[in-house]
Amino acid sequence: MFGKKTQKPQIDKDQLELIENAQRRIKQKKRLYTHFVVFLIGAVFLIFANTVLGIGETFTIFNQNWFVIAISIWLFIFLYHVFNVFVTNRLMGKDWEKAQLDKLVGAQKLRIEKLKQKVEKDFPVQTDFSEARPAIQENTNNLTLIVAASENNAIGKDNALIWHLSDDLKRFKSLTSGHHIIMGRKTFESFPKPLPNRTHVVITKQDDYQVPQGVLVANSIEKAIEMSKGDNQPFIIGGGEIYRQALPFVNTMEITRVHESFEGDTFFPEINMNEWNETSRIFHGKDANNDYDFTFFTYKRH
Ligand SMILES: NC(=O)c1ccc[n+]([C@@H]2O[C@H](COP(=O)([O-])OP(=O)(O)OC[C@H]3O[C@@H](n4cnc5c(N)ncnc54)[C@H](OP(=O)(O)O)[C@@H]3O)[C@@H](O)[C@H]2O)c1
Repeated sequence: MFGKKTQKPQIDKDQLELIENAQRRIKQKKRLYTHFVVFLIGAVFLIFANTVLGIGETFTIFNQNWFVIAISIWLFIFLYHVFNVFVTNRLMGKDWEKAQLDKLVGAQKLRIEKLKQKVEKDFPVQTDFSEARPAIQENTNNLTLIVAASENNAIGKDNALIWHLSDDLKRFKSLTSGHHIIMGRKTFESFPKPLPNRTHVVITKQDDYQVPQGVLVANSIEKAIEMSKGDNQPFIIGGGEIYRQALPFVNTMEITRVHESFEGDTFFPEINMNEWNETSRIFHGKDANNDYDFTFFTYKRH
Protein backbone atom coordinates (compact mmCIF):
# COMPACT_ATOMS: atom_id res chain seq x y z
CA MET A 1 0.00 0.00 0.00
CA PHE A 2 2.85 2.39 0.89
CA GLY A 3 5.29 1.01 -1.71
CA LYS A 4 6.67 2.97 -4.66
CA LYS A 5 4.13 3.74 -7.37
CA THR A 6 5.23 2.27 -10.70
CA GLN A 7 5.20 5.06 -13.28
CA LYS A 8 3.17 4.24 -16.33
CA PRO A 9 4.97 5.35 -19.54
CA GLN A 10 3.33 8.56 -20.84
CA ILE A 11 4.18 7.79 -24.46
CA ASP A 12 1.56 7.34 -27.12
CA LYS A 13 1.75 4.77 -29.91
CA ASP A 14 3.08 7.17 -32.57
CA GLN A 15 5.85 8.45 -30.32
CA LEU A 16 6.83 4.89 -29.44
CA GLU A 17 7.02 4.04 -33.14
CA LEU A 18 9.26 7.07 -33.77
CA ILE A 19 11.61 6.08 -30.95
CA GLU A 20 11.81 2.49 -32.17
CA ASN A 21 12.50 3.71 -35.68
CA ALA A 22 15.33 6.00 -34.44
CA GLN A 23 16.86 3.11 -32.46
CA ARG A 24 16.73 0.90 -35.53
CA ARG A 25 18.49 3.60 -37.62
CA ILE A 26 21.23 4.00 -35.01
CA LYS A 27 21.83 0.22 -35.04
CA GLN A 28 22.00 0.17 -38.85
CA LYS A 29 24.55 3.02 -38.89
CA LYS A 30 26.63 1.41 -36.13
CA ARG A 31 26.78 -1.82 -38.12
CA LEU A 32 27.81 0.14 -41.22
CA TYR A 33 30.58 1.89 -39.28
CA THR A 34 31.86 -1.48 -37.95
CA HIS A 35 31.78 -2.83 -41.49
CA PHE A 36 33.83 0.18 -42.65
CA VAL A 37 36.48 -0.38 -39.96
CA VAL A 38 36.66 -4.14 -40.64
CA PHE A 39 36.91 -3.37 -44.36
CA LEU A 40 39.87 -0.97 -43.83
CA ILE A 41 41.71 -3.40 -41.55
CA GLY A 42 40.91 -6.31 -43.88
CA ALA A 43 42.14 -4.41 -46.95
CA VAL A 44 45.43 -3.47 -45.23
CA PHE A 45 45.85 -7.09 -44.10
CA LEU A 46 45.27 -8.45 -47.64
CA ILE A 47 47.82 -6.00 -49.10
CA PHE A 48 50.27 -6.90 -46.34
CA ALA A 49 49.70 -10.65 -46.89
CA ASN A 50 50.44 -10.38 -50.56
CA THR A 51 53.19 -7.79 -50.78
CA VAL A 52 55.09 -8.38 -47.50
CA LEU A 53 54.38 -12.03 -46.63
CA GLY A 54 54.36 -13.03 -50.30
CA ILE A 55 51.12 -15.07 -50.05
CA GLY A 56 49.92 -15.86 -53.59
CA GLU A 57 52.55 -13.60 -55.08
CA THR A 58 52.30 -15.24 -58.48
CA PHE A 59 48.52 -15.70 -58.46
CA THR A 60 46.67 -13.17 -60.66
CA ILE A 61 43.10 -12.78 -61.87
CA PHE A 62 42.56 -10.85 -65.13
CA ASN A 63 46.17 -9.73 -64.90
CA GLN A 64 45.56 -8.23 -61.47
CA ASN A 65 47.00 -9.32 -58.13
CA TRP A 66 44.40 -11.39 -56.30
CA PHE A 67 44.23 -8.94 -53.37
CA VAL A 68 43.13 -6.14 -55.74
CA ILE A 69 40.21 -8.27 -56.93
CA ALA A 70 39.36 -9.35 -53.34
CA ILE A 71 39.41 -5.73 -52.09
CA SER A 72 37.31 -4.60 -55.11
CA ILE A 73 34.64 -7.23 -54.39
CA TRP A 74 34.63 -6.31 -50.70
CA LEU A 75 34.39 -2.60 -51.62
CA PHE A 76 31.41 -3.38 -53.82
CA ILE A 77 29.72 -5.25 -50.92
CA PHE A 78 30.47 -2.32 -48.61
CA LEU A 79 28.99 0.19 -51.08
CA TYR A 80 25.92 -2.01 -51.34
CA HIS A 81 25.67 -1.90 -47.53
CA VAL A 82 25.95 1.94 -47.65
CA PHE A 83 23.22 2.07 -50.28
CA ASN A 84 20.97 -0.15 -48.14
CA VAL A 85 21.37 2.02 -45.05
CA PHE A 86 21.07 5.44 -46.69
CA VAL A 87 18.70 4.72 -49.56
CA THR A 88 16.71 1.51 -49.26
CA ASN A 89 16.04 1.55 -45.53
CA ARG A 90 15.56 5.30 -45.40
CA LEU A 91 13.39 5.77 -48.46
CA MET A 92 11.78 2.34 -48.62
CA GLY A 93 11.34 1.71 -44.92
CA LYS A 94 8.18 0.89 -43.01
CA ASP A 95 6.25 3.90 -44.34
CA TRP A 96 7.10 3.00 -47.88
CA GLU A 97 6.00 -0.62 -47.30
CA LYS A 98 2.74 0.59 -45.74
CA ALA A 99 2.08 2.96 -48.63
CA GLN A 100 2.68 0.13 -51.12
CA LEU A 101 0.37 -2.15 -49.14
CA ASP A 102 -2.36 0.51 -48.98
CA LYS A 103 -1.98 1.03 -52.71
CA LEU A 104 -2.37 -2.71 -53.39
CA VAL A 105 -5.35 -3.04 -51.02
CA GLY A 106 -6.97 0.01 -52.64
CA ALA A 107 -6.54 -1.50 -56.11
CA GLN A 108 -8.02 -4.82 -54.94
CA LYS A 109 -10.98 -3.05 -53.31
CA LEU A 110 -11.65 -1.20 -56.55
CA ARG A 111 -11.56 -4.48 -58.47
CA ILE A 112 -13.98 -6.14 -56.02
CA GLU A 113 -16.33 -3.13 -56.23
CA LYS A 114 -16.29 -3.30 -60.03
CA LEU A 115 -16.97 -7.07 -59.96
CA LYS A 116 -19.82 -6.53 -57.48
CA GLN A 117 -21.38 -3.92 -59.76
CA LYS A 118 -21.04 -6.27 -62.73
CA VAL A 119 -22.65 -9.20 -60.85
CA GLU A 120 -25.48 -6.94 -59.62
CA LYS A 121 -26.03 -5.75 -63.19
CA ASP A 122 -25.87 -9.20 -64.81
CA PHE A 123 -27.78 -11.09 -62.11
CA PRO A 124 -30.16 -8.63 -60.48
CA VAL A 125 -31.71 -9.86 -57.25
CA GLN A 126 -34.86 -8.24 -56.01
CA THR A 127 -34.00 -7.56 -52.40
CA ASP A 128 -36.12 -4.64 -51.39
CA PHE A 129 -39.69 -5.76 -51.18
CA SER A 130 -40.46 -3.42 -48.35
CA GLU A 131 -42.08 -0.78 -50.56
CA ALA A 132 -44.42 -3.23 -52.23
CA ARG A 133 -45.40 -5.10 -49.10
CA PRO A 134 -46.96 -2.83 -46.47
CA ALA A 135 -50.54 -2.09 -47.60
CA ILE A 136 -51.36 -5.66 -48.50
CA GLN A 137 -49.46 -7.07 -45.53
CA GLU A 138 -51.99 -5.55 -43.15
CA ASN A 139 -54.82 -7.30 -44.95
CA THR A 140 -53.52 -10.82 -44.90
CA ASN A 141 -52.60 -13.06 -42.04
CA ASN A 142 -50.54 -15.63 -43.77
CA LEU A 143 -50.54 -15.32 -47.53
CA THR A 144 -49.02 -18.59 -48.73
CA LEU A 145 -47.58 -19.48 -52.10
CA ILE A 146 -47.85 -23.12 -53.10
CA VAL A 147 -46.02 -24.58 -56.08
CA ALA A 148 -44.45 -27.74 -57.46
CA ALA A 149 -41.26 -26.93 -59.35
CA SER A 150 -38.56 -29.05 -60.95
CA GLU A 151 -34.85 -28.65 -60.26
CA ASN A 152 -34.66 -26.20 -63.18
CA ASN A 153 -37.78 -24.35 -61.91
CA ALA A 154 -40.09 -25.60 -64.68
CA ILE A 155 -43.71 -25.64 -63.50
CA GLY A 156 -45.77 -26.22 -66.62
CA LYS A 157 -45.93 -26.88 -70.32
CA ASP A 158 -48.78 -26.25 -72.81
CA ASN A 159 -50.91 -24.93 -69.95
CA ALA A 160 -50.72 -28.18 -68.00
CA LEU A 161 -48.59 -29.76 -65.27
CA ILE A 162 -45.57 -31.75 -66.47
CA TRP A 163 -45.68 -34.66 -63.99
CA HIS A 164 -48.07 -36.79 -62.04
CA LEU A 165 -47.36 -36.85 -58.30
CA SER A 166 -50.36 -38.23 -56.50
CA ASP A 167 -49.07 -37.42 -53.01
CA ASP A 168 -48.29 -33.85 -53.99
CA LEU A 169 -51.87 -33.36 -55.22
CA LYS A 170 -53.17 -34.85 -51.95
CA ARG A 171 -51.05 -32.42 -49.95
CA PHE A 172 -52.20 -29.53 -52.14
CA LYS A 173 -55.79 -30.55 -51.47
CA SER A 174 -55.34 -30.89 -47.72
CA LEU A 175 -53.50 -27.56 -47.36
CA THR A 176 -55.77 -25.46 -49.55
CA SER A 177 -59.19 -26.93 -48.67
CA GLY A 178 -61.46 -24.41 -46.99
CA HIS A 179 -59.31 -21.47 -48.17
CA HIS A 180 -59.17 -18.89 -50.94
CA ILE A 181 -57.01 -19.95 -53.85
CA ILE A 182 -55.72 -17.09 -55.99
CA MET A 183 -54.67 -17.88 -59.54
CA GLY A 184 -54.05 -16.48 -63.00
CA ARG A 185 -56.66 -16.84 -65.69
CA LYS A 186 -54.56 -19.43 -67.56
CA THR A 187 -54.14 -21.69 -64.53
CA PHE A 188 -57.88 -21.47 -63.89
CA GLU A 189 -58.52 -22.56 -67.45
CA SER A 190 -56.19 -25.54 -67.03
CA PHE A 191 -58.71 -27.08 -64.56
CA PRO A 192 -61.52 -29.16 -66.02
CA LYS A 193 -63.80 -27.57 -63.40
CA PRO A 194 -63.38 -25.54 -60.20
CA LEU A 195 -61.81 -27.46 -57.32
CA PRO A 196 -64.25 -28.44 -54.58
CA ASN A 197 -64.37 -26.81 -51.15
CA ARG A 198 -62.21 -23.77 -52.07
CA THR A 199 -62.99 -20.17 -53.03
CA HIS A 200 -61.40 -19.44 -56.39
CA VAL A 201 -60.14 -15.94 -57.11
CA VAL A 202 -59.21 -15.63 -60.79
CA ILE A 203 -57.00 -12.76 -61.91
CA THR A 204 -57.59 -11.39 -65.39
CA LYS A 205 -57.43 -8.07 -67.18
CA GLN A 206 -60.58 -8.91 -69.10
CA ASP A 207 -63.61 -6.87 -67.96
CA ASP A 208 -66.25 -9.37 -68.98
CA TYR A 209 -64.53 -12.62 -68.06
CA GLN A 210 -67.24 -15.24 -67.47
CA VAL A 211 -66.86 -17.71 -64.59
CA PRO A 212 -69.07 -20.34 -62.96
CA GLN A 213 -71.11 -19.28 -59.96
CA GLY A 214 -69.10 -18.84 -56.76
CA VAL A 215 -65.84 -18.08 -58.54
CA LEU A 216 -64.51 -14.56 -57.88
CA VAL A 217 -62.76 -12.41 -60.47
CA ALA A 218 -60.14 -9.73 -59.73
CA ASN A 219 -58.40 -7.42 -62.16
CA SER A 220 -55.14 -7.19 -60.19
CA ILE A 221 -53.05 -9.13 -57.65
CA GLU A 222 -53.73 -6.48 -55.01
CA LYS A 223 -57.48 -6.75 -55.61
CA ALA A 224 -57.35 -10.56 -55.38
CA ILE A 225 -55.49 -10.40 -52.06
CA GLU A 226 -57.93 -7.77 -50.81
CA MET A 227 -60.86 -10.05 -51.70
CA SER A 228 -59.27 -12.84 -49.61
CA LYS A 229 -58.59 -10.80 -46.51
CA GLY A 230 -61.24 -12.59 -44.41
CA ASP A 231 -59.28 -15.82 -44.84
CA ASN A 232 -56.51 -16.52 -42.34
CA GLN A 233 -54.47 -18.34 -44.97
CA PRO A 234 -55.20 -17.55 -48.60
CA PHE A 235 -53.06 -19.36 -51.17
CA ILE A 236 -51.35 -18.13 -54.32
CA ILE A 237 -51.53 -21.20 -56.55
CA GLY A 238 -49.94 -19.95 -59.78
CA GLY A 239 -49.05 -19.92 -62.52
CA GLY A 240 -45.74 -18.38 -63.49
CA GLU A 241 -46.96 -14.82 -64.09
CA ILE A 242 -48.89 -14.70 -60.83
CA TYR A 243 -46.11 -16.25 -58.71
CA ARG A 244 -43.71 -13.60 -60.00
CA GLN A 245 -46.01 -10.70 -59.18
CA ALA A 246 -47.38 -12.04 -55.90
CA LEU A 247 -44.04 -13.02 -54.38
CA PRO A 248 -43.43 -9.66 -52.61
CA PHE A 249 -46.70 -10.05 -50.68
CA VAL A 250 -46.21 -13.66 -49.63
CA ASN A 251 -45.28 -14.69 -46.06
CA THR A 252 -45.00 -18.46 -46.48
CA MET A 253 -43.93 -20.70 -49.36
CA GLU A 254 -44.85 -24.35 -49.73
CA ILE A 255 -42.53 -25.61 -52.45
CA THR A 256 -42.59 -29.16 -53.72
CA ARG A 257 -39.18 -29.62 -55.33
CA VAL A 258 -39.35 -32.35 -57.95
CA HIS A 259 -35.86 -33.84 -58.21
CA GLU A 260 -35.60 -33.88 -61.98
CA SER A 261 -35.11 -31.31 -64.73
CA PHE A 262 -37.81 -30.82 -67.34
CA GLU A 263 -38.42 -28.90 -70.50
CA GLY A 264 -41.19 -26.42 -69.81
CA ASP A 265 -42.68 -23.18 -71.06
CA THR A 266 -43.55 -21.77 -67.65
CA PHE A 267 -41.09 -21.30 -64.80
CA PHE A 268 -41.08 -20.47 -61.11
CA PRO A 269 -39.08 -17.25 -60.48
CA GLU A 270 -35.64 -17.22 -58.85
CA ILE A 271 -36.02 -16.66 -55.11
CA ASN A 272 -33.63 -14.62 -52.97
CA MET A 273 -33.11 -17.25 -50.27
CA ASN A 274 -31.53 -14.68 -47.93
CA GLU A 275 -35.04 -13.53 -47.12
CA TRP A 276 -36.41 -16.94 -46.18
CA ASN A 277 -36.00 -19.49 -43.41
CA GLU A 278 -36.55 -23.14 -44.19
CA THR A 279 -38.88 -24.40 -41.46
CA SER A 280 -39.59 -27.89 -42.73
CA ARG A 281 -38.51 -30.44 -45.34
CA ILE A 282 -39.96 -33.86 -46.01
CA PHE A 283 -38.46 -36.13 -48.65
CA HIS A 284 -40.74 -38.45 -50.64
CA GLY A 285 -39.26 -41.18 -52.81
CA LYS A 286 -40.53 -42.23 -56.23
CA ASP A 287 -43.15 -45.04 -56.08
CA ALA A 288 -46.12 -46.52 -57.92
CA ASN A 289 -48.20 -43.32 -57.45
CA ASN A 290 -45.42 -40.78 -57.83
CA ASP A 291 -43.27 -40.71 -60.96
CA TYR A 292 -40.31 -38.87 -59.38
CA ASP A 293 -38.51 -38.24 -56.09
CA PHE A 294 -39.56 -34.97 -54.50
CA THR A 295 -39.26 -32.95 -51.29
CA PHE A 296 -41.85 -30.76 -49.56
CA PHE A 297 -40.13 -27.56 -48.37
CA THR A 298 -41.75 -24.92 -46.17
CA TYR A 299 -40.20 -21.45 -45.99
CA LYS A 300 -41.17 -18.51 -43.79
CA ARG A 301 -40.13 -14.97 -44.55
CA HIS A 302 -37.69 -13.50 -41.96
N1 LIG B 1 -46.41 -26.59 -60.98
C1 LIG B 1 -47.26 -25.84 -60.35
O1 LIG B 1 -47.32 -25.83 -59.11
C2 LIG B 1 -48.21 -24.99 -61.14
C3 LIG B 1 -49.19 -24.26 -60.48
C4 LIG B 1 -50.03 -23.44 -61.23
C5 LIG B 1 -49.88 -23.40 -62.62
N2 LIG B 1 -48.91 -24.13 -63.21
C6 LIG B 1 -48.71 -24.07 -64.66
O2 LIG B 1 -48.42 -22.73 -65.02
C7 LIG B 1 -48.87 -22.53 -66.35
C8 LIG B 1 -49.73 -21.27 -66.38
O3 LIG B 1 -48.98 -20.14 -65.92
P1 LIG B 1 -48.86 -18.80 -66.78
O4 LIG B 1 -47.76 -18.01 -66.23
O5 LIG B 1 -48.81 -19.17 -68.23
O6 LIG B 1 -50.26 -18.12 -66.56
P2 LIG B 1 -51.03 -17.68 -65.22
O7 LIG B 1 -50.10 -16.99 -64.32
O8 LIG B 1 -51.80 -18.82 -64.69
O9 LIG B 1 -52.09 -16.67 -65.82
C9 LIG B 1 -51.69 -15.57 -66.59
C10 LIG B 1 -52.87 -14.66 -66.80
O10 LIG B 1 -53.20 -14.01 -65.59
C11 LIG B 1 -53.69 -12.71 -65.85
N3 LIG B 1 -52.81 -11.76 -65.23
C12 LIG B 1 -51.49 -11.87 -64.98
N4 LIG B 1 -51.03 -10.79 -64.34
C13 LIG B 1 -52.08 -9.95 -64.18
C14 LIG B 1 -52.27 -8.68 -63.58
N5 LIG B 1 -51.23 -8.04 -63.01
N6 LIG B 1 -53.49 -8.11 -63.61
C15 LIG B 1 -54.54 -8.76 -64.15
N7 LIG B 1 -54.44 -9.96 -64.74
C16 LIG B 1 -53.21 -10.57 -64.75
C17 LIG B 1 -53.70 -12.55 -67.35
O11 LIG B 1 -54.98 -12.97 -67.79
P3 LIG B 1 -55.70 -12.30 -69.07
O12 LIG B 1 -54.84 -12.70 -70.22
O13 LIG B 1 -57.05 -12.92 -69.08
O14 LIG B 1 -55.72 -10.82 -68.80
C18 LIG B 1 -52.63 -13.52 -67.78
O15 LIG B 1 -52.77 -13.95 -69.10
C19 LIG B 1 -49.60 -23.77 -66.75
O16 LIG B 1 -48.73 -24.60 -67.49
C20 LIG B 1 -49.94 -24.43 -65.44
O17 LIG B 1 -50.10 -25.84 -65.56
C21 LIG B 1 -48.08 -24.91 -62.50
